[in-house]
Amino acid sequence: MNSNLHIYDTPQDTARAVAELIRVKAKEKNKQSLPLNMALSGGNTPKLLFNLLANEYVDTIPWHFVRLFWVDERCVPPTHVQSNYGMTYENLLKSVPIHDSNVFPIQGEIDPNKEAKRYQNTLETQLPLYDGFPKFDLILLGMGDDGHTASIFPTDLSLLYSDQFVAVSSHPVSDQKRITLTGQVINRADEVVFLVTGGSKANVLKQIIRKEEDFASYPATYIHALSGPAHFYLDQEAAGKL
Ligand code: 6PG
Repeated sequence: MNSNLHIYDTPQDTARAVAELIRVKAKEKNKQSLPLNMALSGGNTPKLLFNLLANEYVDTIPWHFVRLFWVDERCVPPTHVQSNYGMTYENLLKSVPIHDSNVFPIQGEIDPNKEAKRYQNTLETQLPLYDGFPKFDLILLGMGDDGHTASIFPTDLSLLYSDQFVAVSSHPVSDQKRITLTGQVINRADEVVFLVTGGSKANVLKQIIRKEEDFASYPATYIHALSGPAHFYLDQEAAGKL
């Protein structure tokens, strides 16, 4: 089995494995007196991880060394039920001692084009640049059952190659406007981790991992880290067809 596949029995075990990865990476950076610059995704899957971090990792992760960014955001206010920031605050941020000055939300309530420009500027000024692009230490991604990741959908693969760091996209079904990191930023991260659970993603995941059938049409196919493949943290259901 590929060394970048990490498969666990349950979603809870999978979330714990990712929590441990975050803890180890934060400790490594802490030892070098450096921050951990991390970007989080939204949706439902990360809730298990965020709750685990909030309940069991308050004292074992040096949160004062963590600087938190978002991979994407829905263009809704932070109080909206679909807000990724709102979900992250409720499940994680309100429970851990991370400094407000180290939390960089995408502002979903702002005009999308203006916010994309503002967040681009935030990344330019708050992160080290590599090859002209902002460089994260760790990016946590999910994957939709259509193979999208971040808010890069199969309907707009050009966002994988855009020279912009941050772009406006639209959900192909709801047409909801999104703000998203682009592929060139994601692919320059030191480490990229997919957290994917549930049987609904098993078929697309198989195609992506094995590069079979329609894999070329899925944005997640094109995602990797700066110096190697992305790591997939999967439960048995998501990995069921590998
Ligand atoms: C978002 C996410 C998105 C998510 C996938 C999977 O804003 O929705 O960033 O990329 O990771 O859609 O979502 P689920 O975890 O809800 O299946």
